[in-house]
Amino acid sequence: MKELWYKNAIIYSLDVETFMDSDGDGVGDFPGLTNRLDYLSALGITCLWLLPFYPSPNRDNGYDVMDYYNIDPRLGTLGDFVEFMHQAGERGMRVVIDLVVNHTSNQHPWFLAARSDKNSRYRNYYVWSENPPKTDPEQLMFPDVEDSIWEYDEQANAYYLHHFYKEQPDLNIANPAVREEICKIMGFWLELGVSGFRIDAAPFLIKGIGIEGADPEHMQAFLTEMEEFVSSRQSNAVLLAEANVDPDQIPIYFSKGDRMHILFNFLLNQYMFLALARQESSPLRDGLKILPDIPPVCQWLNFVRHHDELTLDRINSSKRKEIFAAFAPDETMQIFGHGIRRRLPPMMGGNRRRIELIYSLLFTLPGTPMLRYGEEIGMGDDLSLEGRNSVRTVMQWSDAPNGGFSTAASDDLARPAIATGEYGYKKVNVAAAQRDPDSLINWMDRAIRIRKQCPELGRGKWHILETDSPAVFAHCCDWEGRTVIAVHNLADKPCTATLKSNEYTHLFDLFGDRIYESLAADSPSIPLEAYGYRWFRVNREQY
Ligand code: GLC
Repeated sequence: MKELWYKNAIIYSLDVETFMDSDGDGVGDFPGLTNRLDYLSALGITCLWLLPFYPSPNRDNGYDVMDYYNIDPRLGTLGDFVEFMHQAGERGMRVVIDLVVNHTSNQHPWFLAARSDKNSRYRNYYVWSENPPKTDPEQLMFPDVEDSIWEYDEQANAYYLHHFYKEQPDLNIANPAVREEICKIMGFWLELGVSGFRIDAAPFLIKGIGIEGADPEHMQAFLTEMEEFVSSRQSNAVLLAEANVDPDQIPIYFSKGDRMHILFNFLLNQYMFLALARQESSPLRDGLKILPDIPPVCQWLNFVRHHDELTLDRINSSKRKEIFAAFAPDETMQIFGHGIRRRLPPMMGGNRRRIELIYSLLFTLPGTPMLRYGEEIGMGDDLSLEGRNSVRTVMQWSDAPNGGFSTAASDDLARPAIATGEYGYKKVNVAAAQRDPDSLINWMDRAIRIRKQCPELGRGKWHILETDSPAVFAHCCDWEGRTVIAVHNLADKPCTATLKSNEYTHLFDLFGDRIYESLAADSPSIPLEAYGYRWFRVNREQY
């Protein structure tokens, strides 16, 4: 049986390249990350998700892999990786890594062989067509850069499929040899101690577009094969899928609990931002209600922001416009027609109370919470950078040059540091935040400490609690006879929310935006500040 460690993990996502540079060459590296493990462990992080660190021409931030069995030499060596894994293990931290196998880089030896020789065994690793169909604009992932998902290759004298950039040819998952290769890659990293994989672009992996005779069942069965393989090698390893799909498609990924174990909660994320824009709880309630029930071993991964755009493609255009109007009114803040390329604090005008409210939601919504590097100190974005790079600036450790990330000249950094303004490293950095008892990081520290003591939130059965206040979102999670309730006021005005059910009494405060007077034992009325939030345990005896 699987240990359900991921149900109460605190996951932290980072890119080795932008986290900490140990040798002053301007590029973050594994030794730098290893040196910062104490920091992460002290923050309460229990699992790291590393963005791709493989050798890559870096056309897509490392999501274009040239060699699945190695480390990008700019980031270190396999030896450095093993040392990092050891040190993470010493601190009880697990590591999940990105597995990017929907496509390779066009510099991968498989692709080089495939395009240069029709008879190569690698030809059929990719998807080719002499006469590809026209691309439907809906199929384009990067509509501002690409206008087709097929690219003509002169050497091959054929078109190849690429859902993402043209430098990322799609692999042919219908080919059993490709499936075997993917399992072999997972086997390699499992031997080095990782606890699982983030499956990049999962829906595209199993789509079967352009593959003659591709049978959907056979394509989807690959998800089961992956799970079988991973579990056979390491029973507690997990598959975390990036599958931003409509609710009716979700069962394809979770199935009976024998495919993907965790899914990023893209739907809830989009509905949460709608609720925030309207200062009303109903969209958040709708977002939860449309999620299907999931098998007991499966889990949602909740997040506020990740390394890509904040995608709003699962809600209709009028709702999307409301969110844009509230949080990304300028076109330069938007991307691909459906996303926002900002970090959270600038989206919220730096309003600390509102920022806390949002992370309080993150830590209490049913599922496992994920933070992205820099969120704990309220890092901002740099809209002068191209595309999604606006949210990929380097970690701000101190007020030293380059935010203490690297001793290289600032022109030599792999990615820039935010040097000036409200979010510049002089003002926003780890060292300053740790000294300030009122800082966001010290708030996060407390929130994480309490969250870890509430397994109900990660493992329990949840339901929404009705109140008389449209701005208030209240929900309850039960697990093994214990119950936690969280109440959030999404509006900028204080209120008192009265629970409609009198089933929950003796509410004992666990955490909140301030110290409130304790509720009377039988009181269903809960005072809340503007953007206020309170977490309770039902029954003082259960504390
Ligand atoms: C995923 C990644 C994104 C990348 C794309 C192609 O969506 O999150 O960053 O560009 O896959 O690999």
